Amino acid sequence: PRIAVFASGSGSNFEAIAEAIQSGELGADIPVLITDKPLAPVITRAERLGIPAAAVNPKAFPDKAAFERTVLARLRDEEIDWIVLAGYMRLIGPTLLGAFPNRIVNIHPSLLPAFPGKDAVGQALAAGVETTGVTVHFVDEGMDTGPVILQREVPVVPGDREKTEAAIHAIEHELYKEALQKLLAEEQSRV
Ligand code: GRF
Repeated sequence: PRIAVFASGSGSNFEAIAEAIQSGELGADIPVLITDKPLAPVITRAERLGIPAAAVNPKAFPDKAAFERTVLARLRDEEIDWIVLAGYMRLIGPTLLGAFPNRIVNIHPSLLPAFPGKDAVGQALAAGVETTGVTVHFVDEGMDTGPVILQREVPVVPGDREKTEAAIHAIEHELYKEALQKLLAEEQSRV
């Protein structure tokens, strides 16, 4: 299967997935990284990994549908099967949802449905919970809604955002790989 990773920022999850592919743990290809931020650090990671990066700036389009049609054309060119969101800070609209039904997944740094949206780690720290976690889920039209694929708990380090985020990232890199292995294995067994 051919995966397009979408990312807006650092791209550590993108890199973890790319490494799992390179090491043979994940049987897939990433023919393209899509970013909506032309200066995102994830682009440097893609260069280092030898994965082509396509920066598509939403500001260059009149609306989300026009932006997504341009992204979709690239995905079709690359014969993409799955969209994997990894720190992609934009809601997916009807154009892409319709073209990839049940084939768009996301990772979120909380035990959804708790703490959806921006700064989930900050939300967990502010709420004073002892445990937060990571969720990989299918994407629907909502913000961090959609059926859960895998979840894993991560203890909060009270008052310490940096340590909590580091622990979450470490789990994310493992959990995304496992979730994609699961999805691709299920797909294999259907054909
Ligand atoms: C991750 O915490 C992910 O759960 C959230 O955005 C962050 C992206 O981190 N959706 P990175 O860019 O993969 O390092």
